[in-house]
Amino acid sequence: MSKPGQDARLQEDFSPSQLGTKEYWDDAYQRELDTFRDIGDVGEIWFGEESMARVLRWLDKKSIPTDSAVLDIGTGNGLFLIRLAEHGFTNLTGIDYSAASVELAKCILEKEGLSGIRVKEMDFLSCPDEFSGFNLCIDKGTFDAITLNADGAADCEARYTTALRGALRVGGLFVITSCNWTKEQLLNIFSHGFRFHEELPTPRFQFGGKTGNAVTVLIFERIP
Ligand SMILES: C[S@@+](CC[C@H](N)C(=O)[O-])C[C@H]1O[C@@H](n2cnc3c(N)ncnc32)[C@H](O)[C@@H]1O
Repeated sequence: MSKPGQDARLQEDFSPSQLGTKEYWDDAYQRELDTFRDIGDVGEIWFGEESMARVLRWLDKKSIPTDSAVLDIGTGNGLFLIRLAEHGFTNLTGIDYSAASVELAKCILEKEGLSGIRVKEMDFLSCPDEFSGFNLCIDKGTFDAITLNADGAADCEARYTTALRGALRVGGLFVITSCNWTKEQLLNIFSHGFRFHEELPTPRFQFGGKTGNAVTVLIFERIP
């Protein structure tokens, strides 16, 4: 997975499947946790600040109630939770399967004085049945990472969509930001139990006479 704005630390050569392993994320977030403890740097902002601002503008436009139960899937350093809290959202949960990520997110939230945000260590692909009832699920780069798993994208896709159907209430919304999957691919993957709602505009590029988007942001609604 490549991403605009990535820092030199993560530009090293890696085979794509490394980003699909828990070891990769444990190492990456342990380094970021150490750095945060040393100098207070929150670390990588995947897809940049604009990727969060874009979703926040959409939440405003749609007048999504600020007491909606929001789940950030694969929260990383928890920065999206902070931006949502700054935006007035009060019922926020983040999960990540990396213990170091959860520790980093908790440290950053504590420093920001945001004690009401729940952050849990949890593998989204194995989340319990009772992990449900969310009005809004957000994924920024996590589905991309999950589907780089060496066990096979198809199996991970199926487990992810099953977990998402369990977590999201009927009528709830799912916002996915992806750089590895095209709109058409995502429409196909999230076709059972979800209805396509809209696409958020992202910067377009032109290369070799073709036009495309480096990042795709789609909104889906959970249907019965
Ligand atoms: C590309 S990073 C994005 C992090 C965060 N969403 C952001 O935008 O900064 C992918 C995240 O997904 C997490 N992750 C990967 N597989 C996961 C799984 N099965 N369950 C929960 N979290 C997972 C990783 O630990 C990592 O924090």
